[in-house]
Amino acid sequence: MQKPERHPLTMDGRDRALLRGDPMTGDRYYSREFAQREWEQMWTRIWHVAGRVSELEEAGDFIVHDFMNESVICVRQRDGSIRAFYNACGHRGMRLVGESGHVPAFHCPYHGWVWGSDGVLEDLPDPDDFPQNPCGTRKLEELRCDTWGGFVWYTMNENAPPLLDYLEPIPELYKNYPMDTLVRVFWMKIDLNTNWKFATDNFSESYHTHTAHPQVPPWIDQDVASARHEMFPNGHGRTVQPMRPSLTERPPEGTEHPFDAVLRQWDIDPDSYPDYETKAMQGWRDLKAAKRQLWKERGYLHYEHMNDEELTDSPHTVIFPNVTLSFLPDNVIFFRTEPHPEDPNKCTFDLWCMAFPVAGMTEVESIMAGMQPLEEAEFDHRQFDGGRGVPEIEGQIVYQDMMLAEGMQRGMHSRGYRDAYLAGQETRVRFFHEVLNDYLEGRK
Ligand code: FES
Ligand SMILES: [Fe+2]
Repeated sequence: MQKPERHPLTMDGRDRALLRGDPMTGDRYYSREFAQREWEQMWTRIWHVAGRVSELEEAGDFIVHDFMNESVICVRQRDGSIRAFYNACGHRGMRLVGESGHVPAFHCPYHGWVWGSDGVLEDLPDPDDFPQNPCGTRKLEELRCDTWGGFVWYTMNENAPPLLDYLEPIPELYKNYPMDTLVRVFWMKIDLNTNWKFATDNFSESYHTHTAHPQVPPWIDQDVASARHEMFPNGHGRTVQPMRPSLTERPPEGTEHPFDAVLRQWDIDPDSYPDYETKAMQGWRDLKAAKRQLWKERGYLHYEHMNDEELTDSPHTVIFPNVTLSFLPDNVIFFRTEPHPEDPNKCTFDLWCMAFPVAGMTEVESIMAGMQPLEEAEFDHRQFDGGRGVPEIEGQIVYQDMMLAEGMQRGMHSRGYRDAYLAGQETRVRFFHEVLNDYLEGRK
């Protein structure tokens, strides 16, 4: 079996001795002063995801990304490149556009200035009424923009490291996945009454999953010793879990084993194994071999460069500070929270379920949103409303997480909560807060 090499930047994500032990106090989740420091010291200095590259097919296609009170436009140029501009008119600052779309040029609704997709002023009323005609010289304020993983990224920080350095070693770790080909089959933004950090905390550990997601262990082995817990100097981290049944938490006798269907899909008879342990362990190895043999004729072209681990396992990955990419052999799920502009008790939660296209397939099972047509989804914005606002994902893993989010936020306000008491497998949670402190205190 091919063993993936450990990246040299990898730190043991269960080793709390690598941490300082900064307390994770409640005020971090509700203090406006703390949220303001996050804006000034962190959000204005990191790289943000604006959207998918596939939203920018033609010159003039643009994405609007609102972040707190800021707004940024990323627009496809005639030469094929993508450039980013603040969404503020260079005349008197009017917000130029409200939502993503396509325009030959941006027409400001206030005094009618016309900005080319390259950010240069093309036309305006009464040009002779200015000390100098600003056409051709006045420009929208530009930001740095780049792409990785089929995502469009930008930063408000002129001195930020290049995107690939910021993400290190994530692009290297996932070089075998053809991320540009992913189709976003489910695309929802959900307003949630919790601080944005709930999601990074939650996605940095799998300790909660046995309690919160009892449906998972029969097909992803979430036992602590089965997983590899890794963290990286820039604040990113991941937990790699085998997609095979847990040996400690089995489905009750007589119930359907979800792993059986996976085996059958690749022509393996689940009843050919003498017992549950052998099916879990040997079946998982046989699955790797079957996928390696059959991928091409089945149209699973995204398997071409994957190693044995990637063919059957799930590296659940957090990119500092607020993006989680859950990699599965056939799906990548993008989760992201972003803070509310005024209230640290609120955030938005983005859920993008993306699938690798398979020839002849018209529907895909997205593990966070159920069966979906294999085509680009329309954007949908909802209120969580205690779960009532998103009935179509009720009972899904991510819904279960969101149900916990508001209770965590209430707990953070209690005088009885002072700091977390973490298991070794939750080390990455405190690591995230320590990297955040490095930003807030000017060490990063
Ligand atoms: S603010 Fe845009 S044209 Fe005046
Ligand atoms: Fe969860």
